[in-house]
Parts: sequence; structure tokens; C-alpha cells
Amino acid sequence: MSAWLLRDVRPYGEDAVDVRLVDGRIAELGRDLPTGDSRVLDGASGVLLPGLVDLHTHLREPGREDAETVETGTRAAALGGFTAVHAMANTDPVADTAGVVEQVWRLGRDAGHCDVAPVGAVTIGLAGETMAELGTMADSAARVRVFSDDGRCVSDAGLMRRALEYVKAFDGVVAQHAQEPRLTVGAQMNEGVVSSMLGLTGWPAVAEEAVIARDCLLAAHVGSRLHVCHVSTAGSVELVRWAKSKGWDVTVEVTPHHLLLTDDLATTYDPVFKVNPPLRTAADVEALRAGLADGTIDCVATDHAPHALEDKEAEWGAALPGMTGLETALGVVVETMVAPGRLTWRQVAQRLSAAPARIGRLDEGPSPQGRPLAVGEPANVVLVDPAASWTVDPRQSASRSRNTPFAGRTLPSRVVATFLRGRPTVLDSAIVETAHAGPGRA
Ligand code: DOR
Repeated sequence: MSAWLLRDVRPYGEDAVDVRLVDGRIAELGRDLPTGDSRVLDGASGVLLPGLVDLHTHLREPGREDAETVETGTRAAALGGFTAVHAMANTDPVADTAGVVEQVWRLGRDAGHCDVAPVGAVTIGLAGETMAELGTMADSAARVRVFSDDGRCVSDAGLMRRALEYVKAFDGVVAQHAQEPRLTVGAQMNEGVVSSMLGLTGWPAVAEEAVIARDCLLAAHVGSRLHVCHVSTAGSVELVRWAKSKGWDVTVEVTPHHLLLTDDLATTYDPVFKVNPPLRTAADVEALRAGLADGTIDCVATDHAPHALEDKEAEWGAALPGMTGLETALGVVVETMVAPGRLTWRQVAQRLSAAPARIGRLDEGPSPQGRPLAVGEPANVVLVDPAASWTVDPRQSASRSRNTPFAGRTLPSRVVATFLRGRPTVLDSAIVETAHAGPGRA
């Protein structure tokens, strides 16, 4: 038997209890539980949350193992408090067949840091022309439920309609990277005052919003599920609010970087701030925070996009877009949403665990994710020290890449332990009690 006793922890930031994890499940929750033969961890009144679930991670394997591997990316995920991540399909080869999604799923299982749910490409080679074999990916060992050409938009309305229809057969969802390509030719940053000043080609808000509006209408028309990746504009939040008011099955995510950073960072010409969709204005950031607070935005997803040095440390125009984000996600959410009182810890659990797991259908099956902290549920949990803070140092990251936009920034709260089915994947040794022989509390 493997058993852990997490002493003095506050589930969802509420009243302190002891929690026992036995054989991969939450076995007991209560005050002053006897030690028995459990290993003991001193929670020091830290916040206990269900393991976080990311709907949007780029693990780069196969193809760009110099930027990230499934092993390094999932290690970074565990350090960030995640027990499951969805691995995006824009690998090389593209994850557009059962063979590739099964390979990624197996690599994740073998690494053992967190569950890896591969995302399947919507179109062959992400080329936007021919639908991939979504059904065989859904039926594979990887059990794919999320399909996305992320990095590229499924811009052909007919193809998008067919994909939305097709995924209904296995309760799948199409996750759209909303970017009308004809409106973003050569785009380098948000279109606005700063892009005019810098003379860089702009990526207008309407390029995102036009696709979201179209896809909401398509999803409603065919009665399917649509998920919108990384919304970044105030107008997108308005559109989604409208679609939800109609009762349509539309969900959306926001990234931590779009909750915190703005487009004036482009004035540094530091490509670490280049990302797709681009950083927007302070008004957009405020609308995203409000949308996340009121539930219009369902969840936070990292869009962890590691890049090798030579792809990122180039001049702005040549650098690839993307930022790492797994290890910093929770800290950014605490800074932007919890500290100012806009989200409770219970709502953080909803937006970073339950909702993304539900959208990806990871809350079903033999080993579900995103489940509540309750007796009998899988012991996927993260312990957070809410009073701690840490300064982001890219050299300390478990990711193989260094392109964090938060380098040097001090973020609030710290993950001190992550458990995957009752096994610690991250454990700060300072909180493990060594002498715990005998029954009862020491
Ligand atoms: O900035 C981004 N980087 N946005 C995307 O949609 C793709 C991602 C990547 O794969 O690097």
C-alpha cells in the first residue's frame, strides 16, 4: 500500500483538514487523522487544489526535441501543478494520424510526470485542405477528443462545418485558432497605436473576432461543440458572451500572458514578447479578466510554446511567436485574479482543473482528471503555498527552452507538491516529515 497523509491543508483555500491518499485515491478527509503507516507531509495550511489540467500545451515531440520533449515539457507541467496536459498537434510529423497521437500518448505515460492527452489535427498536415482521420484518432489508445490545427486557423468555412459535424459522433470538440489569414498577412503585433508608432504590420482584433463569430454560428447550426483557443480581445469576450446567452455549446480559454501583458512591450523589440495571437491593449486585458471572473471565459490554458534559442533570439520580424508558460501559469493567475479578489481558490480550481478537464473529456474514463477533492476521487492534487513568492529564472526551468516573458518577475504563490494518482511528481523535501513512527499525531 502506498499512503500519504497531507496534514493541515486547506482544500480550495477553505478550512484546514488532513487528507489521506491511499493507492491512488483520496481515502479520507478530516481533522486530526491518525498517522498510521502513511508518509506525512506538513501542509502548513497551504491551499490544496485538484491537479491542474492544461488544454493547450506544445510539447514539440516528435520533431523539435531541441526545443522540448514530452519528458521535459511534462516535468515543467508537474512543477506548475499540472496533472494533465493536452499536447497540441503542430509537431513534425503533425499529429494527424492514430500512429502519431499514440506515440505522444505513450511518451507521456512512460515519462510519468503527468497525463498527456494528445490533440489531433483537424486537417492533414495542418494544411487546411483535407480533413484528417479524426475517427481513427478518437478510437486509438490515445482516445483523442480535442481536434485543432492550432498555430493555424481552419479558415475554410466548409471544412470547419464538416469537422464540427464529424466530431459529434464521438463527443469531440474542435478547438479553433481564430485568425483570419487574409487579415493577418505579414502581421507582427497587435494592430493599434503601438504598431503604428513602431511601423510594424498589425494583427487586428477583427481577424480573431470574425472567425469566432463565424464559428459560433456554425457550431449552433450543426449543433456541435466549439472551443476557442487563446481569446485575446475585448470583442471576442463580447461575442462569446452573446453565443453563451443563446445557449450554444461554445467554450473559450485565455492564456496567462494575455491576462497580464500588453502590446507596449513590443517597444522593447525583445522577441520574447512576440506571440500569436499578439499581446493586446490594457482595455483588452481588463475585458479578459472580467470575462474570466464572470465565467464567460471557461478556463485558463497556457499555450506553452517553447522555442529553441536560434528561433527566438532573432530580430523581432524573424523570431517565432510563442512563450513558455507551464511553470508560471498559476502564479500569474494568482497575481491577476486571486490577489485582487476577482477569483476565489474554488473558482481557480474550476477554471484551471474542472473546466478544462470537462472540455477535453478527461473527466471520464478509468482514470479521470479535474475531479473534486472528495473521498473516492483520484488523488490528483496540488499543494500551493499562497504566502510564498518566487522570482522567475529561465535557467531554472525544467523546460528545454528559455522563452518566458516573465523572467526576473516575482510571482506570488508557489507549488510545493503535486501528486499524480497518489504518487508525488513534485515534492519540496522541506515539507516531508521524516519521523512519523507510531499511531496518532506526533
Ligand atoms: O505563439 C504561438 N506559438 N501561437 C500559436 O498559436 C502557436 C505557438 C507555437 O506552436 O509556437
